[in-house]
Amino acid sequence: MDYLELMVPLGERSYQINIGTGLLAQCGEKIAALTDSRVLVVSNPTVFQLYGEVVLNSLATAGLEVHQALIPDGEEYKNMTETMQVIDQALHLQLDRGSVVLALGGGVVGDLAGFVAAIYQRGISFIQIPTTLLAQVDSSVGGKVGVNHPQGKNMIGAFHQPRLVVADLNTLDTLEGRDYISGLGEVVKYGVVWDKALFDYLETHIEQINQRHKSCLQHIVYECCRIKSDIVAQDETESGLRAVLNLGHTFGHSLEKLGEYHRYRHGEAVAMGIVIACFMAEDLGLISTKETARIKALLQGLQLPIQVPQYDPEAVYNGMLGDKKASNQGLRFILPTGIGRFTMADNPDKDLVLKAIKRAM
Ligand SMILES: NC(=O)c1ccc[n+]([C@@H]2O[C@H](COP(=O)([O-])OP(=O)(O)OC[C@H]3O[C@@H](n4cnc5c(N)ncnc54)[C@H](O)[C@@H]3O)[C@@H](O)[C@H]2O)c1
Ligand SMILES: [Zn+2]
Repeated sequence: MDYLELMVPLGERSYQINIGTGLLAQCGEKIAALTDSRVLVVSNPTVFQLYGEVVLNSLATAGLEVHQALIPDGEEYKNMTETMQVIDQALHLQLDRGSVVLALGGGVVGDLAGFVAAIYQRGISFIQIPTTLLAQVDSSVGGKVGVNHPQGKNMIGAFHQPRLVVADLNTLDTLEGRDYISGLGEVVKYGVVWDKALFDYLETHIEQINQRHKSCLQHIVYECCRIKSDIVAQDETESGLRAVLNLGHTFGHSLEKLGEYHRYRHGEAVAMGIVIACFMAEDLGLISTKETARIKALLQGLQLPIQVPQYDPEAVYNGMLGDKKASNQGLRFILPTGIGRFTMADNPDKDLVLKAIKRAM
């Protein structure tokens, strides 16, 4: 399969995203065209065991000096302790300002490695090789990098754009079912909030998506990256428009927290959050019951959860108040106003929010 190329247009920080199959074995050439410096590959044991060798070989064949740093597998390791371990290693290897950090893994590895690249010697080059669907459609693009603090997710971070993103669709074959499905939660988000054509495509390709057909995935990853890069190009540091990508996330983060980050994958929580947002929008007369039903049917067809567990609705509400995506003035929700359209609602009536949460249970 040929690969598709997409440019994220950010002036002198512009970069390419390559989307296709068999790209890991060719990544060395691409990267050697950007740098002749040393490369620190950051990964975790799960991903490194599967894809480390092919990436390292490709880099070495292209004449690059390569090193590796592994962090343990799991969201709980996206923290400052592991960040410091990678920095210790970079210092030990005497990496300098010309060196490159390469993230090989899902969103956890990408966020942490990108943060290291953002702060090491005031910032060095960063390359993303995302290996989960979530990372390919969302976290590897846009430059948000960071780690968690015991008091909250993604509380420490920076904006640091990669210089290249290489999304090899073959890596998605080895993803566990729920990790794959989680990525689909973010995919549906783009369709609901921004692009009716993508939504229609997803609706008519449910079976192929569930079977991970490559041509279908190539289209989906391309479209999601195109949408995200459009939005990021207009609002790189989330002063306004970029917040649209938080559809389902204000509720989702609270549900993730109530499930102690184990019960639900990120994209699963986002899916339930999208349903609650639809119910709120319905109550405000912004979206029809028919459109809500379509959105729910798509989520369900993709095996995403659409029913919120029987948590105390007040607890779900309170969980959102601590969310960093709540603006200083209070809670902000992204609400769909039809498929492919949205509005922002600041500080809606608490009863309206509770009603929507209860309805989703
Ligand atoms: N920076 C952003 O803009 C942004 C956007 C969305 C999410 N995120 C962050 O992304 C993280 C979630 O990312 P994720 O869903 O990729 O989780 P993850 O990185 O934890 O990966 C999920 C699991 O899949 C495994 N894995 C990765 N690639 C694999 C492969 N090809 N084959 C088999 N197993 C593989 C991982 O080892 C892990 O166990 C969260 O920390 C979230 O905050 C960041
Ligand atoms: Zn997300």
